[in-house]
Amino acid sequence: MQSLVKEKIVIIDFGSQVTKLIARRIRELGVFSEVITPLDLAKVKDYKSVKGIILSGGPSTVTSKKFESVPKEIFEKKIPILGICYGLQLIAKIFGGKIKPSKKRREFGRAYLFKKKQSQLTNNFLNSKKSVWMSHEDAVVKLPKNFNVIASTKDSKLTIIENKRNKIYGVQFHPEVTHTEDGKQIFKNFLFLICKIKKKWNIKSQKKRLIEEVKNTVKKNKVICALSGGVDSSVVALLISKAIKKNLICIMVDTGLMRKNEFKESYEIFKKKYKLNVKLIDSSKIFLKKLKNVSDPEKKRKIIGKLFIKVFEKESKKYKNIKFLAQGTLYPDIIESKSATGSKTSKIKSHHNVGGLPKKMKLKLIEPLKEFFKDEVRILGKSLGLIENISYKHPFPGPGLAIRIIGNITFNRIKVLQEADHIFVNELKKNNLYNKIWQAYAALLPIKTVGVMGDSRTYENICLLRAVISEDGMSADYFNFPKYFLDNISNKIINNVKGINRVVYDITSKPPSTIELE
Ligand code: XMP
Repeated sequence: MQSLVKEKIVIIDFGSQVTKLIARRIRELGVFSEVITPLDLAKVKDYKSVKGIILSGGPSTVTSKKFESVPKEIFEKKIPILGICYGLQLIAKIFGGKIKPSKKRREFGRAYLFKKKQSQLTNNFLNSKKSVWMSHEDAVVKLPKNFNVIASTKDSKLTIIENKRNKIYGVQFHPEVTHTEDGKQIFKNFLFLICKIKKKWNIKSQKKRLIEEVKNTVKKNKVICALSGGVDSSVVALLISKAIKKNLICIMVDTGLMRKNEFKESYEIFKKKYKLNVKLIDSSKIFLKKLKNVSDPEKKRKIIGKLFIKVFEKESKKYKNIKFLAQGTLYPDIIESKSATGSKTSKIKSHHNVGGLPKKMKLKLIEPLKEFFKDEVRILGKSLGLIENISYKHPFPGPGLAIRIIGNITFNRIKVLQEADHIFVNELKKNNLYNKIWQAYAALLPIKTVGVMGDSRTYENICLLRAVISEDGMSADYFNFPKYFLDNISNKIINNVKGINRVVYDITSKPPSTIELE
């Protein structure tokens, strides 16, 4: 990947749930980073562009007979190395330190660092007692040869260690998570003081490269793309159309399970504003028919996924000479699928876009966003002229409102939910809250409750509101709305949406809940 990137940081993924965040932090600092598995590392032949290596955390333990490792030679290449959590323990093990599984020394959550020695790694970081985030059971109990202790915590003496001469560093805590105070400073120091890598990664300059790459790959052929009007597929469509103009055919399959008015509005924008070659297929009736009396979430997903592909395939057969299928795969999807075969990241979610790949079509895939994180895609979208309404749109699940209507899906329930959801999203925008939230939506619960409106008894639906903050959807916390907003939204929905007489706000984080209800 990335032949045009002259300098990069390589992250070796030992399966931590937060490895992605390491890559992201480094990108945020303007440096290209790539996540590879320990297996991939063996295949790396040319280290010229590798200016630093980071060993991630992971569920393995160096105290067992068999543990995941890296060839010792990588320490002889004079490339600076930083081990995080498991990465630190691995470094200690390789260089003759001692690691113990220890109930006494295990640390989960917050811990405080105390400075022991000056180091380039902790420059501007350890000026005072620092709060860091820990998640480990094993601990290094004997320092490896030629290493020094830079910082300790109350329970763990060897929390930051270094071999200054060989530029090998290890930290027991996770500087990549936001719970570590100023964690980014550790990466800043590692990148710019230790690896001496230059800030060269910027999304806008990548735009030109991506357009050229699409041109060179596609040549005079045709590309087909399932356009949903979400951020990823919209950016893919705009990018490819800049490269090959009318040879891109976009198909929008309206499942009838989208937010109120959203699909038709997106269609108009792509057709009229961006002048794309786009066709809208209204399949809402067949989707509704196939979902009749289906309340099981997995069944809903399967029916929608299959039907989507069927409609898309049927439509695309009407076009001749199509060679490529464009998909909005993002970098986190690539990391996750690698982890599934390479290291031990346990999969939290297994969903995918319903715009997924129809295998039977035997088209070649182009995935121009596969090196990018969501926030990078948004910036790319902006630089392609994508309107803010789309580039900063909240993520929306492929199965759409079907997994936000708990229980049976009917035409009437879709309409009721669309109205409530529309009011919720509009109020978020009006109150300048929309962009502070990762994802927000209304859902319909499968129970009715009694209410009183005017002088009459009502027996109507419960509408659940969900709004979460998150970095990548893998974990999330509920958004803390000011009370006035909750008061107002509850009134607005009940007064305007016939069929709802109670509004509740979901105050669970992920984990233990998920972002969607189904
Ligand atoms: P959960 O509910 O697992 O969702 O916490 C995490 C993120 O994934 C989105 N999601 C989906 N996206 N197809 C998609 O394209 C799906 O089947 C699907 N299910 C969940 C969800 O909206 C959230 O952003």
